[in-house]
Amino acid sequence: MDKLVIEGGKPLSGSIVIQGAKNAALPILAASLLAEGTTTIDHVPKLLDIEVMLNILRELGCRAEHNGNTVVIDTDTAHTSRVPESLMGQMRSSIFLMGPLLARFGEAQVYQPGGCAIGERKIDLHLQGLEALGAEIEEAGNRIICRAGKLFGADIHLAFPSVGATENIMMAAVLAEGRTTISNAAREPEIQDLQRFLNAMGAKIIGAGTDTITIEGVQSLTPCRYKVIPDRIVAGTIMVAAAATRGQVTLQNTNPAHLTSLIHVLRRAGVQIAVDGDIIKVGSAARAKSVERIVTAPYPAFPTDLQSQVMVLLTLADGVSIMKETIFESRLKHVDELSRMGADIRVDMNAAIIRGVPRLYGATVEATDLRAGAALVIAGLAAQGKTVVEQIHHIDRGYDRIDSMLTRLGARITRQSPVPNNLTN
Ligand code: UD1
Repeated sequence: MDKLVIEGGKPLSGSIVIQGAKNAALPILAASLLAEGTTTIDHVPKLLDIEVMLNILRELGCRAEHNGNTVVIDTDTAHTSRVPESLMGQMRSSIFLMGPLLARFGEAQVYQPGGCAIGERKIDLHLQGLEALGAEIEEAGNRIICRAGKLFGADIHLAFPSVGATENIMMAAVLAEGRTTISNAAREPEIQDLQRFLNAMGAKIIGAGTDTITIEGVQSLTPCRYKVIPDRIVAGTIMVAAAATRGQVTLQNTNPAHLTSLIHVLRRAGVQIAVDGDIIKVGSAARAKSVERIVTAPYPAFPTDLQSQVMVLLTLADGVSIMKETIFESRLKHVDELSRMGADIRVDMNAAIIRGVPRLYGATVEATDLRAGAALVIAGLAAQGKTVVEQIHHIDRGYDRIDSMLTRLGARITRQSPVPNNLTN
């Protein structure tokens, strides 16, 4: 397994262009199945999760190419609604195939999805939504079969504003007969992006970005060309890294409106942030100030996907901060690893009480999931001495070559691959 070796203590500086959003691209790629023909998606990052999604689409019979940051998918040749178990197990977002397959083929055969081990991650809201549209669902062990001769619009109230369930229901409802309303819908920017993409293919959806989404079913969709939004979590990760290393970084291709809650938190911590169009400048010369209380919650509140990264900044802040995680029940695994680097963090239920220390020290640590891994990289950049981050395949699921990205900002970071066995003999 590859690892990252970081010589810490160097402030990040320079300018970087932010990649397209993984969490927007994944449902959009799945949704391309809804229109027969060739769809082109621009600004798709080169990531493991994207590769898995393209492999699933190929298994279903599509032709898919990823050249540079553009994906071209020909869905004409799609011929099966069965997603292989081995691919489903590699990534949670494989669940996005359910809605589009059901809408296109009247059937979807999938398995319980894999993904980051950050909590139970049920899919009951996805299934309830599809059932409300008329699907019959059969669960046998790990296998889930959804069938519907025809889908009909329905009023669906989500017990929790799940991002994935909102997206799956939208994708199934676009070709249903009649009107679907999703209330208590998730409001994340990635849902607005999915609405824009589906509407570009001829769907009739309004309301994404609010808690009520209305979908008027249409007969068919046509392929289109579409560019995905910038990745707000990657942008946020770099902003925190700039602050934690007391550097000066300019981020290009961002949507600052998607980062409002992070910008607010960073400013409370004393970080300088200037916004100009799609450019964000982040700078920090002094030690960060503690932030009394941050609570993760559905958008537009503070995102769970930036919780671990911001925690690193707070470990170095002057004073005591509290970070409460309300979205996923096992998302504080980085605390143990950060403690090994000298952080002073106590966990009480789902809250981390962080007492700032003057410095972190390099250590060998393990990425337990995608965002926890990103946090450990930031900790390594800010720490004194050498840090080795292991299990970085988690990080590669969401960051397009994080080491190259950070090297461009002056970081001393290298990727080490194990020497193949036949070379050690
Ligand atoms: C998406 C993001 C992920 C982010 C998360 C929360 C993608 C590909 N991933 O994940 O990066 O961390 O939103 O912002 O977009 N839940 C249920 N039943 C369901 C579905 C969800 O109980 O059927 C629960 C989950 O266990 C979790 C909470 O709802 O506690 C939030 O999950 P959800 O919003 O669905 O997140 P994902 O779509 O999986």
